[in-house]
Amino acid sequence: KTLDDLGDVNGKVALVRVDLNLPMQDGAVTDDTRIRAAAPTILELSEKGAKVLLLAHFGRPKGERVPNQSLSMVVGAVETTLGKEVMFVPEVTGDVVKQAVGILRAGDIAILENTRFWKGEEKNDPELAAAIAANGDFYVNDAFSAAHRAHATTEGLAKVLPAYAGRSMQAELEALEKALGTPEKPVAAVVGGAKVSSKLDVLKHLVTQVDHLIIGGGMANTFLAAKGVDVGKSLCEHDLTDTANEILATADGAGCTVHLPYDVVVSKEFAANPPSLRTCNVHEVAADEMILDAGPNAAETLGDVLKNCRTLVWNGPLGAFEMEPFDAATVALAKTAAALTADGSLVSVAGGGDTVAALNHAGVAQDFSYISTAGGAFLEWMEGKELPGVAALEV
Ligand code: 3PG
Repeated sequence: KTLDDLGDVNGKVALVRVDLNLPMQDGAVTDDTRIRAAAPTILELSEKGAKVLLLAHFGRPKGERVPNQSLSMVVGAVETTLGKEVMFVPEVTGDVVKQAVGILRAGDIAILENTRFWKGEEKNDPELAAAIAANGDFYVNDAFSAAHRAHATTEGLAKVLPAYAGRSMQAELEALEKALGTPEKPVAAVVGGAKVSSKLDVLKHLVTQVDHLIIGGGMANTFLAAKGVDVGKSLCEHDLTDTANEILATADGAGCTVHLPYDVVVSKEFAANPPSLRTCNVHEVAADEMILDAGPNAAETLGDVLKNCRTLVWNGPLGAFEMEPFDAATVALAKTAAALTADGSLVSVAGGGDTVAALNHAGVAQDFSYISTAGGAFLEWMEGKELPGVAALEV
């Protein structure tokens, strides 16, 4: 059910789970993407006259009141993004919340305290869910990025109150369904990042789902090593070479073509524009060199792969993109994907903090069909797992 299924909510209390786990520096919010994602839902409910109580976690305080993890810190940023005054309530249950609800007028918005200050949140304690629900009339989950957690406010509340997906949750699920649920084929996936170990389940699942798997970043080195390539002193998980070979064999059996770089950018040190920088064939990496990016020929070939695909799912950069010139392959492929999306020949979906940073760096994030605000939840979705926060809305 979505907000379209809500009847008259004027004067009713909406308990709205959003993700306010925002990047902060020196007490200030440095990126309001997640507030902007939740804004349509919050403002729609407010305009319909609901009293909007926002529920969210911040950090991992493990059931303790940690002062520098209070959600009071994000109130100003939420007010700025919404362009509306927001009340802060330093509790999530009981009389304090009840009194706040009494003070709020129809359409007003409040943020309740960090839900993870209560032990019952992460334990998905039904008593906590019931106590929170006691002050609300219905529940809206607009936090896809926290939907991989089966917590009281991401899952438990959906069992005790009429539950609806918010606009951002809805958009996210529709985009993801388009990308891996019923995608237009051929489908390509880009999986990059430092370590195979952190994305093992993603790789295992994707080789059975997509036509082309492009592996980049440090994890490509582990696959190259598994194929007998000497990767010098590159980041490489040598203990995972058997696993990498198993994944390659599964891909082969499933008709998925795995793309690894055949030319690479190497250097003796990890520094911006180092003197030892060079590009070489993947078989020519010296013992004292490390691979830091896919080479220009590989990047061009990968672009050609995308030109023959209709759907792209992207998580993780192809190289050490945070340092020049090791951003080149990621930027080149991102630009190709953006241009193909603009032409209407590709549906492109990307997610994960590093990925969004890399696409922003390439200046093309806004040109992708959909960018997910989620990190861990996006990865679990790519693993083919059911997300508890989503499943709870479906029953
Ligand atoms: C995130 O930032 O990815 C979500 O808010 C989930 O946070 P968590 O990993 O602490 O559960």
